[in-house]
Amino acid sequence: MSALFTNKTQAIFWNNNVKAIQRMLDYDYICGREKPSVSAIVHATSENSFQKFFFGVREVLVPIYKSTKDAVDAQPEADTFLNFASFRTAYDVTMEALEFPSLKTLMITAEGIPERLAQEINIQAKKLGRTIIGPATVGAITPGCFKVANIGGSIDNIVKTKLHKIGSVGLVTRSGGLFNELANIISIKANGLAEGVAIGGDRFPGSSYLDHMLRMEKNPDVKFMVLLGEVGGSDEYDIIEAKKSGQLTKPIIGWCIGTVGQYFQGPVQFGHAGANANQDKEKASIKNEEMKKAGIRVPKNFNNLPELIEAIYHRLLAEGTIDKETSKNVPNLPEDYTAAINAGKIRKETNFICTISDDRGAEANYAGVPISQLAMPDTGYNIGDVISLLWFKKRFPKWTSDFIESVIKTVADHGPAVSGAHNARVSARAGKDLISSLCSGILTIGPKFGGAIDGAAKYFKYALDNNLDPREFVADMKKKNIPIPGIGHRIKSVRNPDKRVEELKRYAKEYFPSCELLKYAEKVEQVTTAKKDTLILNVDGTIGVLMVDMWRNNGYSETEIDELIRSGTLNAFFVIGRTIGFIGHILDEKRLNMPLYRHQFDDILYDVKEAEELAPVTN
Ligand code: ACO
Ligand code: LMR
Repeated sequence: MSALFTNKTQAIFWNNNVKAIQRMLDYDYICGREKPSVSAIVHATSENSFQKFFFGVREVLVPIYKSTKDAVDAQPEADTFLNFASFRTAYDVTMEALEFPSLKTLMITAEGIPERLAQEINIQAKKLGRTIIGPATVGAITPGCFKVANIGGSIDNIVKTKLHKIGSVGLVTRSGGLFNELANIISIKANGLAEGVAIGGDRFPGSSYLDHMLRMEKNPDVKFMVLLGEVGGSDEYDIIEAKKSGQLTKPIIGWCIGTVGQYFQGPVQFGHAGANANQDKEKASIKNEEMKKAGIRVPKNFNNLPELIEAIYHRLLAEGTIDKETSKNVPNLPEDYTAAINAGKIRKETNFICTISDDRGAEANYAGVPISQLAMPDTGYNIGDVISLLWFKKRFPKWTSDFIESVIKTVADHGPAVSGAHNARVSARAGKDLISSLCSGILTIGPKFGGAIDGAAKYFKYALDNNLDPREFVADMKKKNIPIPGIGHRIKSVRNPDKRVEELKRYAKEYFPSCELLKYAEKVEQVTTAKKDTLILNVDGTIGVLMVDMWRNNGYSETEIDELIRSGTLNAFFVIGRTIGFIGHILDEKRLNMPLYRHQFDDILYDVKEAEELAPVTN
């Protein structure tokens, strides 16, 4: 095959280098390839079996394999291997990849592979007839067909430098940076590249200028070649010999960079590992002279290189060797959403609004207070404060946050017999996980059990706001057949008072500036307990009326309080507190490892009668 890559070339990419692969797929898209050029990724530690990429506007999945063998087995059509392993693993990865005959071209990007190992790779590759590009390279490109990872730069730059369509020049360099620079010059002075390879800056590149230029000699798309050599090594002499012997017949422009080396006293090491002249013939200026002598077109200096490219291009154009340049439509590459947002080019309507916390900065905050400033005891914030920040976006005075915390502690548990704890225990014994068992407990919280707090606040507040006499209120509720939320208890009574209620009331009377609604509720309790001594103001009722008093004392408007009640805020205090107890019951069951619960027959009244058979209605 004379061209290194075609528009059907498929690559296996070793390492999940998402950005580089996306650049390849973007390139594929603007070149009009039918299929993405990367058909598989090898990433041993990945937990995913695929990676998503954009191919134009649509998304495609590229499979991820744990080993090169798996990738090769699954993607036998892939003949190119892009080794993006670090210099520590690049040798092993390449040697393993060489074992698979389907991989014809292997590119190694890592810089710093020990020279001995690089030589071993080269010997093995030569023996097996494979092409190695690199190490220490950005790779190679066949414009309009395939490019390796980052070569050519951004898509904008690629289009500007005509790397998206086939041109007439074969370019060979060592350096990736200068490759892009030369591609730019060639796009201005000629019609762009037919093929380009940066062989890499190490002393022992896996393929030489000559390997690529001999191939380019056979590639009909390449009409003339540009060789950008550099100080150090003797590879340019191979080109000189090939030119002299007639193996290379197409026009060649050659230049070795590093001519400045001759002005230094001793040997100079340039950027690349191989870029130093150990002997005179490795000097850039000497190589330039020798190239010239062999009939290679060598400019006077680097600045004259563009003119020379232009001259040869126009000559070949005039001769008809090169066809007149045509333009190629480039499909619009959609801009990435994040990039466009960051550049302020687009705006997006939000679907959610959050006014309580923000996790976008270095640290998440609760209503503007960073977690680190409230989590530890020495910050002075307690659980009541955290709830106040996240539920009400307020920092309440200490008596309020202490009250909130006291409520939570007060309702944390009331033994295993109550509805929620029982449900949680039964679920745990049925083998359900903690969260499911917890949910089953929480689901019992409602108008009769723990969830009467909002109702209590609503009805007592309504009665007081409307100046209803307590007797009138009780009678009114009875008339409407509504049990007063917050009144009544299964086991607590006037003779067996609920200590929790007494303590909450004691705290409120001592620390609340006023507790008007509590006082009203106590008067209602006198009426109901006169009827039946279990009709006490229960723990839900006490919390409900005291929360209203709490907000009033903190300056909340009646509308604000009504809204809090409507949204179920007060029952949430019971949910939070009792969750602690439910979890305790679930953990207790898990520890005890009790068997599946089955209710006893003698605890159920069975009253099952034979089903009545309904006769069809006849008119
Ligand atoms: N308001 C007015 N009358 C009531 C109320 C009430 N809240 N609760 C019970 N009564 C009356 C009943 O109408 C009945 O009257 P009757 O004897 O004239 O027929 C009598 O008291 C007994 O009623 P029961 O339903 O048998 O009472 P029980 O002890 O079973 O009910 C319960 C307890 C469920 C808590 C009940 O009082 C009630 O529904 N209260 C309102 C909801 C409530 O506050 N729940 C929270 C309880 S605390 C907690 O769960 C943490
Ligand atoms: C509770 O806190 O769960 C109770 O007041 C209900 C009960 O019956 O004990």
